[in-house]
Amino acid sequence: MQHSLKKMETQAEGLYLEWHDGTPPELFSWQWLRDHSLDNVTYSPKNFQREKSIFDLGGIKPRAVEFARAQSLIEIEWSDGIKSEFSIGFFESLLAPKSLLGEFQKGWPTADQLELLEFRYPTFLTSDEELRRFLEQLAVFGVGLVEGCPATADATRAVLERLGYLRNSIWGDLWTFENNEEFNDFAYMPVGLACHTDGTYSIDPPGLQSFHCLLHDGEGGASCFVDGLAIAEEIRAQNPAHFQTLLELQIPAHYKARGLEIRAQHTVVQLDRDQTIRQVCFNDNDRIPFWLGFEAMAEFYEAYGHFYRLANDPARQLQLKLTPGTVLVLDNWRVLHGRQPFSGRRVLCGAYHNREDFESLLRQLDQSRDR
Ligand SMILES: [Fe+2]
Repeated sequence: MQHSLKKMETQAEGLYLEWHDGTPPELFSWQWLRDHSLDNVTYSPKNFQREKSIFDLGGIKPRAVEFARAQSLIEIEWSDGIKSEFSIGFFESLLAPKSLLGEFQKGWPTADQLELLEFRYPTFLTSDEELRRFLEQLAVFGVGLVEGCPATADATRAVLERLGYLRNSIWGDLWTFENNEEFNDFAYMPVGLACHTDGTYSIDPPGLQSFHCLLHDGEGGASCFVDGLAIAEEIRAQNPAHFQTLLELQIPAHYKARGLEIRAQHTVVQLDRDQTIRQVCFNDNDRIPFWLGFEAMAEFYEAYGHFYRLANDPARQLQLKLTPGTVLVLDNWRVLHGRQPFSGRRVLCGAYHNREDFESLLRQLDQSRDR
């Protein structure tokens, strides 16, 4: 945090704070301050949980407020004798929240701007430093490759479980599939697939998506990957009206087969509180009918079509044929994937990880950074 406190004033309703850098001044209410007290009666430092609810306290007032430790702390003594300490940085972090990934991410509008570091099996299985580097790779570019993995489901599982437990879903946890029309899904047919993110039909789309091609004895089937973050940033810069539509319109999607009918709706782009791009959800195949009125549908076709054309522009895409030995991990909230039609027998395995678990790993990575 760069800014620092310019002025503190106690008022009848709370604590008024003013900043040097032009951050708008705020009045933090006494109720809010007491609610966020880290004293060991209302808060458990061992569990990192509130131990006593603000709603069980009545009529508590501040008795004294002062600066401490060279004005880096604000101390409040309350009418029930509890003492609270607040660092200036605590207020600063709340006034200017930062996204988890924003400081890491580098968009790659074209594949030559994507840097793929090398990670090798089995070092990846045993070295925490390798894992840390891999997470950073995913945080920065949204794509990571582990090379030299035996072409088996078990070895793939061992690689992917380094990133946490696998998400169970309608496909299983570690799925292995080849052409299978019973699944009623184009992914299971030898046809080409336009670039998309997975799970637009899921209320909680998978955070990470991984693939390992265990066998392919035919032609074609090259995969393509495109950075949804770079696409969204380009639309934000070049056509704010389209970008606004992508932020606002909820696009419904489904998976319907095998007695299942799973539905959800998402905007194409979601922002974090600091306006960085938090999530991209895009799958034109799984979109289902919706009607928002003539004008809104016209705006939808314009904005969604803009995204579609950029996502499927070969000039933007990383083209890569998945081969036995290479485990590919994608940030499914950022990087879209697709593939060319193929012939022959093609066996793929892979898995999903939940977003919250990926983000939990990234928070540890963030804490281990030297800053
Ligand atoms: Fe997919």
